[in-house]
Amino acid sequence: RDKLMKEIGENEMAFPLTFKEWEDVAKEKMITGGYQYVSKGAGSEETAKRNRTALEKWSIIPRMLNDVSTVDVTTELLGNKYASPFLLSPIGMQKLAHTNGEIATAQACKKFMVPFILSTVSSCSIEEVAEVSNGPKWFQLYWSHENPEVSYSMIHRAEKAGYEAIVVTVDTVMAGWREGDMKAGFSPLSLGYGSGNYKTDPVFMASLKDKEEQSIIEEILTHIQHPQLTWDAIAEIKKRTTLPIILKGILHKEDALLAVKYGVDGIIVSNHGGRQLDGVIASIDALAEIKEVIDKQIPILFDSGVRRGVDAVKALAIGADAVCIGRPYLYGLAAHGKVGVEKVIERFIQETEVTLGLAGIARLAEIERLGMKREK
Ligand code: FNR
Repeated sequence: RDKLMKEIGENEMAFPLTFKEWEDVAKEKMITGGYQYVSKGAGSEETAKRNRTALEKWSIIPRMLNDVSTVDVTTELLGNKYASPFLLSPIGMQKLAHTNGEIATAQACKKFMVPFILSTVSSCSIEEVAEVSNGPKWFQLYWSHENPEVSYSMIHRAEKAGYEAIVVTVDTVMAGWREGDMKAGFSPLSLGYGSGNYKTDPVFMASLKDKEEQSIIEEILTHIQHPQLTWDAIAEIKKRTTLPIILKGILHKEDALLAVKYGVDGIIVSNHGGRQLDGVIASIDALAEIKEVIDKQIPILFDSGVRRGVDAVKALAIGADAVCIGRPYLYGLAAHGKVGVEKVIERFIQETEVTLGLAGIARLAEIERLGMKREK
């Protein structure tokens, strides 16, 4: 037993443990501009910080004297049963973090049957990712107004490759005001273009050092901005696919109600990890408001600021049906590739089980029994 415990201990010690430790290793391994692109928020990072301070203001009021000898975290979502309430948020250009990029992430997700949401601006193709992982996969779409056919074609490819849902990101109609990225040339704003009405600047592109860098920047510039996106486009997208449509980036309860009206299948309450509109409400506070009006009409997913199992339990207790992990897994990828992402996911699940057990909840489905209180 001692030998086994020692081995387990050594295995655990081989990996960073806290979010900060993962981030420190990731920072060491990534190129400076890449690390900055991942870690920073928009503007003065008011919202990025607020996501954390608000989560800390919410406290769990636990229940006692329940048998928690097994804790069941299985989750039903869109008619599928998943082993845990977690998904991985779409994060673009993962080769910035690790040479295997999204391939490694998708493989790690498969191990835990956690849905991986592949970004439109991923560094591996829809089909490449599907080939290496038959685990659950969703596809995130940045709408192209200039060329909707490109968007429809992406949806079609995702459908054909076995992706289970389309996540349309609605909070990125133009690039966020990210000053670090502007300095590093990682933002269209560094070219002086403030809205989606820009063209890729050939002089700027030629100034980039290598081909990979060029293609990465070109991807961002071409795809993320789409200021003309409206509810009508959502209706059009819905017509083109039988896959469920999830809107990512909803913060206002009226928009949540419109999502129901337009027949979408779910929403992700998110402020993009504080990377888009700075000064907006903390994602967890928006969740509490939206939950009240939606009241189980459609599933509500949640991200932004989640750093550990306790944060996820808070979101689930407030009303999220599932929680998406963002930066923590990207740091896992940068630090240790596929194994790093696996470790991050595993620890999220374990800590969630412990948290629920200590809070007296044996089945995630009964989380409503918890009390939740927010300090002013
Ligand atoms: C993102 N996010 C994002 N969202 C999206 O819909 N499409 C994308 O391509 C990206 N790309 C992306 C890159 C990087 C480096 C980051 C950090 C984030 C937003 C992401 O899906 C998620 O909403 C946030 O990461 C959640 O916040 P936390 O958990 O990172 O604080």
